[in-house]
Amino acid sequence: MNKSFALLGGLLAAAVIGTAAVSDGHANKAIEAAVKARQAQMSLYAFNIGLLGDMAKGEIEYDAEAATKAASNLAALAQLDQSRLWPPGSDNAALGTDKTKALPAIWTADSTARAKGMALVTAAVAMEQAAGGGLDSLRGAIGDVGKSCGGCHELYRQK
Ligand code: HEC
Repeated sequence: MNKSFALLGGLLAAAVIGTAAVSDGHANKAIEAAVKARQAQMSLYAFNIGLLGDMAKGEIEYDAEAATKAASNLAALAQLDQSRLWPPGSDNAALGTDKTKALPAIWTADSTARAKGMALVTAAVAMEQAAGGGLDSLRGAIGDVGKSCGGCHELYRQK
């Protein structure tokens, strides 16, 4: 089974079992740790796509090796198992908007968050192939990566 299949895979299962434990102190700590970890993962996405974006815009000089490294990082990050990063009860309604921007809609039965995560995997793997093949090749792949970030934020991240 492809690793990406596990991406956000715990979400639905966890949503079914999970919501009661939030008042427990240990659970609170675990939830806050998960929020920090997922925000850190997002920061690493941004850090790596940032380099590719700067090259695409011509703000820094294209460098095939550096581009490939950043794209490989992004693809690897996107394929990490995220099932512990999104525990139920870690949305912005439960924790407050100063703690997290994750919208409750991530955890509803009709959530497409997992599919959005898989779209990022697909785009990031394509970018990994494209990034070292010249600036035009990189430029051709970056739109889909950006759209996969934005497509999820649009629905599931508080503005
Ligand atoms: C599956 C949905 C999803 C995808 C795909 C996704 N994000 Fe996010 N992103 C979120 C959510 C939800 C939050 C809010 C998390 C929180 O505050 O707990 C977020 C937060 C962020 C943040 C703020 C982190 C912080 O420190 O608070 C950055 C930066 C970010 N995303 C960048 C990206 C980039 C760049 C990509 C694409 C390479 C991406 N995201 C792909 C859902 C997604």
